[in-house]
Amino acid sequence: MTRREFNVALLGGAVSASVFPLGAARRPKPPLRVNGDRLNAQLASIGRFGANPQGGVTRLGYSDEDRQARLAVAAWMREAGLEPATDFAGNLIGRRPGSDPALKPLVVGSHVDSVPEGGNFDGNVGVLAAIELVRTLGEHGVALRHPIEVAVWANEEGGLHGSRAVSGQLEAPELAHVVAAGKTVAEGIAFLGGDPDRLHEVRRSPGDIAGYLELHIEQGGVLEAEGTTIGIVEGIVGIRWWDVTVTGFANHAGTTPMDRRQDALLAAARFIDMVHRVVTSTPGRQVGTVGRLEAVPGAPNVVAGSVVCSLELRDLDEATIVRLFGRIADEARRIGEATGTRFAFEPLHVNVPAPSDPRMRAVIGEAATALGLTSRPMPSGAGHDAQALAQVGPMGMIFIPSIGGISHSPREYSRPDDIVHGANVLLGAVLAADAAL
Ligand code: GLV
Ligand code: MN
Ligand code: MN
Repeated sequence: MTRREFNVALLGGAVSASVFPLGAARRPKPPLRVNGDRLNAQLASIGRFGANPQGGVTRLGYSDEDRQARLAVAAWMREAGLEPATDFAGNLIGRRPGSDPALKPLVVGSHVDSVPEGGNFDGNVGVLAAIELVRTLGEHGVALRHPIEVAVWANEEGGLHGSRAVSGQLEAPELAHVVAAGKTVAEGIAFLGGDPDRLHEVRRSPGDIAGYLELHIEQGGVLEAEGTTIGIVEGIVGIRWWDVTVTGFANHAGTTPMDRRQDALLAAARFIDMVHRVVTSTPGRQVGTVGRLEAVPGAPNVVAGSVVCSLELRDLDEATIVRLFGRIADEARRIGEATGTRFAFEPLHVNVPAPSDPRMRAVIGEAATALGLTSRPMPSGAGHDAQALAQVGPMGMIFIPSIGGISHSPREYSRPDDIVHGANVLLGAVLAADAAL
């Protein structure tokens, strides 16, 4: 053991120059840091695309606002020394070559689309921190061995369409689904400059990337409540969506007696309550949500003839999702029998659960420690592009605190300091991954 290793071991990693005066050359180099003011200024600036009156953003995947934000991001990529291009899936990817042409790229990214009435932090923080870290590397003359790619994935909120195209999980039938921006997935991909007929060309296989890292807001309240700065994601939940169609019989609300109705909205109401009951009937962290509902024809004086609603189930264990869905479908059949209606479930998409890679967890934890930041391992209850990328290479995710645990809301907020801490951890993790992978 060298003297320095001995000192480090003795002090649990923190070498104090006053206790063990080391020559300047032997002191550990301070970690490289991003330009935090520039990062937070860009974050404020991207908020103008789709700014909503509540103070957040509505920037639906494949919308005009989404496309405009991407143009701004492409310009920032160029300033950072990245060469941006849109791939056939509509992903905006900025590339910077590495020093070893034999190596596969390290990919760092997130998304800039939002949910309706969302906030300006979900996704944007990760994209802009990735660009900022590359700019910082350039300003300090640091070359990576690996090429680095900064990715802005397409339509994350609508079902990880861009990242799942890359992992080969976006199947042809999904291209016809209509998403929140009112376009089919195929139209949306073309709108962003992709080509839905050539999606197979963006597909990557395991081993095609050296690794994937993503910085994101936690979207829950654990880090803030604990006073911890960095979350090291252990795994990301699986998510399945269905469109549920309840078919009854539309009829006059004044002349149809209560015992002669086939009321699709009544059946849907019982369905929503049943989903809640089934999901909470066993211990565990599984969640189930009906977040959207439309009654047809939708008039006060007409018994609803049909209802289309959503069903979403999430858990870290795929088998739990499958088991819960089986129970929900059984009980829905019984509700249909009792109300004279029929339930049909159309699967929309599947995000498979994804554990993070232990090597990535290690580099994130070490980067946080080197910066003097507190960190803890934690699961992700939100879906992320990282879970698609985990299919093709070692994946790691970094969380920073969300104030009040609020997200998918205009009131979503993360402190500027925490954003900078997260970006510095991302930078440190990229440097360590570049050396280790
Ligand atoms: C993505 O933000 C999701 O978890 O729905
Ligand atoms: Mn989101
Ligand atoms: Mn997100």
